[in-house]
Amino acid sequence: MTILIAEDDLISRVQLERALMSWGHDIVSATTGQEAWNILKSENSPRIAVLDWRMPCYTGPELCKMVRENSQARYTYLLLLTGMDARESVRQGLEAGADDYVTKPFDLTELRHRIKAGERIIRDEALITGKNLELQRYAAAMEQLAEERAQQLIHTARMATIGQLAGGIAHEINNPATYITGNTQMLKRLWKDYAEPIDEFVASRKNDGETIRRIIDDVPDILDEVQDGVMRITQIVNGLKHLAHRPGAAAREFCAIEDCIDEALTMCHNQLKYNVTVETEFEGELPRMHVVPGDVQRVIVNLILNAVEAMTGRNDALLTIRCMSARKKEVLLIDVEDTGSGIPETILNRVFEPFVTTRDVGTGAGLGLTICRRIVEEYDGNIAAFNRESAGARIAVTWPVGRRSG
Ligand SMILES: Nc1ncnc2c1ncn2[C@@H]1O[C@H](COP(=O)(O)OP(=O)(O)O)[C@@H](O)[C@H]1O
Ligand SMILES: [Mg+2]
Repeated sequence: MTILIAEDDLISRVQLERALMSWGHDIVSATTGQEAWNILKSENSPRIAVLDWRMPCYTGPELCKMVRENSQARYTYLLLLTGMDARESVRQGLEAGADDYVTKPFDLTELRHRIKAGERIIRDEALITGKNLELQRYAAAMEQLAEERAQQLIHTARMATIGQLAGGIAHEINNPATYITGNTQMLKRLWKDYAEPIDEFVASRKNDGETIRRIIDDVPDILDEVQDGVMRITQIVNGLKHLAHRPGAAAREFCAIEDCIDEALTMCHNQLKYNVTVETEFEGELPRMHVVPGDVQRVIVNLILNAVEAMTGRNDALLTIRCMSARKKEVLLIDVEDTGSGIPETILNRVFEPFVTTRDVGTGAGLGLTICRRIVEEYDGNIAAFNRESAGARIAVTWPVGRRSG
């Protein structure tokens, strides 16, 4: 270990240097308090310093005080050299921050023991600093983990609230929607019967009946629009019902992802049959999932429909569903890729939020991906949306397989 010797008296200094070198230490020497201070405040200063009491510029105790006040990150072990009959000065030295003292003329064995004690303290201090750093890192990691968990809990609670709200709203809207539908349908049917006598009546009055004729022409259009509106409401209500429905609540069973995907493709057959090439890739032997099969199918169907929608009008439309297992077959990775328009950048990080949609009124409620996420998260999985570099979008689902079969 390197030791600083600050001593203005040549004989004492040489004596000290020899002794310390013979015990295997490297030496840095200073002959004044100022020189010693320059060394002590430098970045890689020696960790043990032997300081004479009286020196030009700063005394030993003054140096002790300065070192302690400088509060370096690393601890310096300070050993003071005091004169004989030194009771009072020892007290002063210790108060100034010295760790120990040796009285002059010094006994070499005593000095050696004091230096050894210093080495022990410095070594222990390094050990504690290391452990402290480790603990700080650990604490930071734990804090981050706690933060992540809290965010997860907030998110889960929010999804649960959305589910509850959705159920209530769906119920509230459903009733008026039902009677509006019933009444418009009835009015449409009856209108044919009303229109004819009105028409005849207008003709018999032998005036041009401009206004009434316009009504006769307009009413069917108005009724069509009302019906479109109600269809849109019904669509939203159905979406909300799915949102309110708690996934995974029905009986779970073991099923093969290949079958769920096949089933979903069959359900979407009408949308896929023109112009879309479908490719499925299953990597190796995939574990069976312990799920409500309908939950998996609903997710895949939603993703397929979005992909088809995004590829409308393209003649190179390709839908790829890729599936592999990971984490020792504990999760399935399901990718649904298309060669469509890609997800508009403006909504890319919000697509899983409810009612986010780019579709025209009446064609999408913006709940498809919200429902997908709710289902996947119910199984402790996750779902993410990306735009592919070449073209189109990729939705990546990580789905834990749940209880293992067999
Ligand atoms: N595969 C995809 N390619 C391009 N855009 C997509 C894709 N999937 C979803 N989107 C975008 O995300 C929006 C939200 O999708 P979704 O939640 O399923 O609701 P909806 O289909 O009713 O609009 C869509 O309106 C569309 O803009
Ligand atoms: Mg959709």
